[in-house]
Amino acid sequence: MEFAPQASIDHAALRHNLRLVRQAADTSRIWAVIKADGYGHGLFRVAEALNEADGFAVARLDEALALRQQGVVKPLLVLSACISRSDFEQAIAADLQVVVHQRDQLAVLNSLSSGQRLSIWLKLDTGMHRLGFAPGELNETLAQLKDLPVVGEINLMSHLANGDDPDDPMTAIQCEQLMQIDPSPFKARSLANSAGLLANPATHLDWVRPGIMLYGASPFINTTAAQLGLQPVMTLSSRVMAVKSCQAGDAIGYGGNYVCPEAMPVATIAIGYGDGYPRHAPNGTPVLVKGARLPLVGRVSMDMLCVDARALTDIQVGDEAVLWGRELPVEEIARQAGTIAYELLCGVKQRVRFHDLNRQQLEA
Ligand SMILES: Cc1ncc(COP(=O)(O)O)c(C=O)c1O
Repeated sequence: MEFAPQASIDHAALRHNLRLVRQAADTSRIWAVIKADGYGHGLFRVAEALNEADGFAVARLDEALALRQQGVVKPLLVLSACISRSDFEQAIAADLQVVVHQRDQLAVLNSLSSGQRLSIWLKLDTGMHRLGFAPGELNETLAQLKDLPVVGEINLMSHLANGDDPDDPMTAIQCEQLMQIDPSPFKARSLANSAGLLANPATHLDWVRPGIMLYGASPFINTTAAQLGLQPVMTLSSRVMAVKSCQAGDAIGYGGNYVCPEAMPVATIAIGYGDGYPRHAPNGTPVLVKGARLPLVGRVSMDMLCVDARALTDIQVGDEAVLWGRELPVEEIARQAGTIAYELLCGVKQRVRFHDLNRQQLEA
């Protein structure tokens, strides 16, 4: 029996979520966002399962180059961090598309000799103030880009800042900013992340860029993944490694921040923050054992955590414990721990054993 934590990745759920994206996106094409190791699920397995997407978007050059080396021939978009001359040379050689979001990238592009041409996405800052050109800088930047022999197709994009709250007026303001730009010089335009895609059709444009919804988590603060018809992709599990009979007054774990109110069984589960389970999960955060939601007690340690097992009289060493997955949404754990599902999914560590479920062999 394996006592090491396991992450099973359900390829059928990935494919299902992509079908929902396709339905919602209507005629727009899909950049499946698989940065940060496929939001922690594994870059290559996610690329394989999402083979029906029109292209993949990643954050960094290395991620795109790794996909090319793995034989991925689809369009690949590098969303940021393509800055130096060597970055651009590698991007051109690997036929990547890159986001141009600041002036020093223009100087580098200007210094490259023509040959193969590079498709670029010009990033407009519509209000996030993280990356991108201000609307007033766009015409001049565009004119300069058009003069550069190495630049091929020019596309336009921006990114939504507050899409997680569908009532936040910021999304409409950002959309309006983008729509005020004359579309004629651009081959295509892109704005929507998962939240924009699901809540705001005006953001769809030519290409949508969903990330979190592909992994079966909700992009919204007040709507669950189940309500959206999404299927969680990752199930993080481990096993009960000890069951102790504690007495009233016994304090559990580091710092003893949980004190047993009565004689009770406490089960120790083989997973901790060294595996990516959030250390800040408070007492009461649920862990699923044999269908029962057992409350976390005491601080999460590096390799272990404890649960109050009073609700499960027949709990025993070796029982499976689910930390998040289909029956226990990762968003619920994230909320308890004061973070977001994105961070928990991306934070699962390499020492967790990953397994593929419902993998579909691709035809050669
Ligand atoms: C530029 C860009 N586009 C799209 C996405 C996908 O966003 P989401 O995972 O919220 O769908 C991200 C993710 O952070 C991003 O940075």
